[in-house]
Amino acid sequence: MAEKEIEIKVSNLSVGFHLHGQESHVIRNVSMDIYKGETFAIVGESGSGKSVFTKTFTGMLEQNGFISNGSIIFEGRDLAKIRTNKEWISIRGRKIATIFQDPMTSLNPLLRIGYQLSETLKLHGNQLQKMHDELVSKELVALRLAEEDYYQELKAIAQEQQNAIKNLKKENPGIKNNDSKIKEIKLVAKQKCNEAKEKLNKVRPQLKADYKASNKAATEKVREFKNNVLAEMRKEMSEAKANGASRKELIDIKEKHKRRLKVTNRQAKAEAIELLRKVKIPNPEQRYRDFPFQYSGGMRQRVVIAIALACKPKVLICDEPTTALDVTVQTQILQLIKDLKKEYEFTTIFITHDLGVVASVSDRVAVMYGGQIIEYGTVEDIFYQPAHPYTWALLSSLPQLANDGDELIYIKGNPPSFGKEIVGDAFAPRSDYAMKIDFIKEPPMFKISDTHYAKTWLLDPRAPKVKKPKLIRNMEEKIHNTMNSMQQKVGEADATRK
Ligand SMILES: Nc1ncnc2c1ncn2[C@@H]1O[C@H](COP(=O)(O)OP(=O)(O)OP(=O)(O)O)[C@@H](O)[C@H]1O
Ligand SMILES: [Mg+2]
Repeated sequence: MAEKEIEIKVSNLSVGFHLHGQESHVIRNVSMDIYKGETFAIVGESGSGKSVFTKTFTGMLEQNGFISNGSIIFEGRDLAKIRTNKEWISIRGRKIATIFQDPMTSLNPLLRIGYQLSETLKLHGNQLQKMHDELVSKELVALRLAEEDYYQELKAIAQEQQNAIKNLKKENPGIKNNDSKIKEIKLVAKQKCNEAKEKLNKVRPQLKADYKASNKAATEKVREFKNNVLAEMRKEMSEAKANGASRKELIDIKEKHKRRLKVTNRQAKAEAIELLRKVKIPNPEQRYRDFPFQYSGGMRQRVVIAIALACKPKVLICDEPTTALDVTVQTQILQLIKDLKKEYEFTTIFITHDLGVVASVSDRVAVMYGGQIIEYGTVEDIFYQPAHPYTWALLSSLPQLANDGDELIYIKGNPPSFGKEIVGDAFAPRSDYAMKIDFIKEPPMFKISDTHYAKTWLLDPRAPKVKKPKLIRNMEEKIHNTMNSMQQKVGEADATRK
């Protein structure tokens, strides 16, 4: 890959859930850059945190979930700081779209496929709104960030006060709440809050004024644009009328210009049919009128992809999109995503259990375990030179890699429970390669090459040299065979369709 531009920069992200009055920490201090235009795969056992991690990119954590630390920078905004659904609307679906394992997650069973698709096109086709949003986004984000910083500071001060009082009570059992020492702590906290407020007040009026000014200028610009389009339309129509144009010709002129402002019904329908054709739904003109129940599972997933593409997102998150489909359909859908990616140039984040899928679609791979990325690298790094015992175990359990007579290795034991604190390397209790230190201290991310990193003490220079499991040696040949057979399946699937 040439010079890499970052699409999403995740730093020190931690995510927790409130459950039965307790907090569990499900994503634990994850940092990762996702590059523009790449296909980034996330693999790992069930419960390792793949979905929760990517749900934070679109504000889809469940009600009891919260980001406890870290940032997710996308287009200069910190997604980790977004609190309201109103703000998410400009990102979720429009800029970062997600498709899930079950297409019905994204479809309404009561509405015709065509209607769902064309409504989406109309919803996202308001050119004037888009123009306005883009013109004010910089000032709006600056204002939001300043206010967010202030709230974060208040939170920290409150936490500090709480801890100080707790410690004091521990040292002096029986101390009363109206004791002068406690009063003093509260007073200091109050002062700090005032200082934080003052700091905000110093910048907020200017930021607010900037935002108001840019909002006004944007409104003006958008109005001007709209008036221009309408004026051009009227002029062209009256000229056409004078030349004796037919009713249909006049409507065409109208549509052409209104295009520039919003998506009309007629246009939405034409675009929807075109999109259905793009995702390879046969007879799109007829299928447009069908309901989801009249589609097969694979076709529903194609429709969901079409709906996701309707907004021309910059990032497409695919969370196990083919797991529920049979193998032939699975390869077709993978091929479809690959083809569309070439045309639309979106960045893809691909979540899957299936390492065979990973090998065939992705540029880079991250392996998740116990709420952390424990190894990442290019596909070649991960498949040919895996470094973490968990990645070894994962690869060893790949049925596609076994030759006749090879015994598949299943990963023994269970993934860690997030309820209690995880000490050391989360995989240590299940690992044949665990050393003493693995149970005591969390390993850092060791750099193996410019592209390849792994979080295991085995990479420490002091660690003994160990041999990888036999099954995953000479991986190149095995992967090659797997890929060939997948390619072959795609070819066969295409042939049967035609
Ligand atoms: N709303 C919630 N409340 C409490 N815990 C949750 C919640 N949502 C997810 N979790 C926990 O977070 C952990 C990670 O879940 P996540 O859905 O990200 O796993 P995953 O890697 O996507 O697994 P799968 O492959 O099964 O989809 C799991 O232990 C899960 O139980
Ligand atoms: Mg999941």
